[in-house]
Amino acid sequence: MSIPRTIALFSSSRRHGNTGALIDCVAGQLGIEVVDLGAARISVYDYEHRNRDDDFEPLMQRALACDQLIFASPVYWYAPSPAMKIFLDRISDFLDLPDLLADGRRLRGKQAYVVCTSIEAEASAHFIGAFVDTFNYLGMHYGGVLHADCRDGYVATRHAAEAVAFAKRLQGAGGARVNGQDNGVDMSRYELAQLNVGVIKGPMDSPVMADFAANLERINELAERSSGFVWRLQTEDGDATAIRPFGNANMLVNMSVWKDVESLSRYVYNSEHVQIMRRRREWFERMDEAFLVLWWVPEGHRPGVEEALARLQWLRANGPGPEAFTFRTAPLPPDALPGTPELNLGNECPAT
Ligand SMILES: Cc1cc2nc3c(=O)[nH]c(=O)nc-3n(C[C@H](O)[C@H](O)[C@H](O)COP(=O)(O)O)c2cc1C
Repeated sequence: MSIPRTIALFSSSRRHGNTGALIDCVAGQLGIEVVDLGAARISVYDYEHRNRDDDFEPLMQRALACDQLIFASPVYWYAPSPAMKIFLDRISDFLDLPDLLADGRRLRGKQAYVVCTSIEAEASAHFIGAFVDTFNYLGMHYGGVLHADCRDGYVATRHAAEAVAFAKRLQGAGGARVNGQDNGVDMSRYELAQLNVGVIKGPMDSPVMADFAANLERINELAERSSGFVWRLQTEDGDATAIRPFGNANMLVNMSVWKDVESLSRYVYNSEHVQIMRRRREWFERMDEAFLVLWWVPEGHRPGVEEALARLQWLRANGPGPEAFTFRTAPLPPDALPGTPELNLGNECPAT
């Protein structure tokens, strides 16, 4: 499998701060260049385009030669750093200028990612939204975010594992090694699938469900912005509320795939999702049987509802085991064989 050509466009007020360390780790793993936008000569957007001789156009041409673009910035006042904002503004040149328009259209279909740091558990929705709305406008596909909570600074032992997992995702489902090298990091080729079911206390459009329905999109978006999120089940409505399993008209499913147990657990128990989870009795009937099941799936596999329900039935019938488990009983992924060395993260990124 060929590795997608990838470029990292980075901007921070300090090259070797938190965001610099995080993107260097990702880039080291991918064997790609980090372009420091702040060090390039790129002036602010000019309606008269009197700045066409600066570094922007050649840099954009380099980005256009790639399949994947990573935009790396700290969160500064809920927004991207200034040089990143200028870069995004200048993309307008490729929409305004007739001789650049054809190149501008080449952005369509490219994968775009965000790498960011802040001092909160999750990246600000406004910050992510600015990128995602821009990607959508340009016809690029948003591939996800790697966010590091740096309230204690950049802590390699915490953040590098996530950076390595993120880089591996960008390398493609095959998880090929860059430059033919084994970097000594043995990451799992399995991802964590999750299903939970619940019996609602009334139709989705009834008053009793109103608050749940009103929060659903926000909570789903929060999941998508969370580090380690891979996929979620949804119909064309953007959620899974139209799917009613077990022939029960009142039963809802929620299903997703995550990089590992830690990332799902962080989202479930350590994000704004908690406030919604605490209110579940307002909207869902009490269930005496297990309503949540986790299981490992090969990287890239997207489980169907039947497969997921079979796992839940298995858990209900047999209790937790390698086939179906809960947070508390989660085993290591199937390729974490006994004797596999633990990921050893010292002070440096293992990829560099
Ligand atoms: C000017 C400025 C504004 C910031 N605004 C926010 C913010 O809105 N939300 C947040 O969580 N952190 C904010 N922070 C904290 C940074 O996002 C965080 O420390 C980040 O890791 C810094 O990355 P850097 O070392 O690349 O600059 C701000 C920091 C600065 C210097």
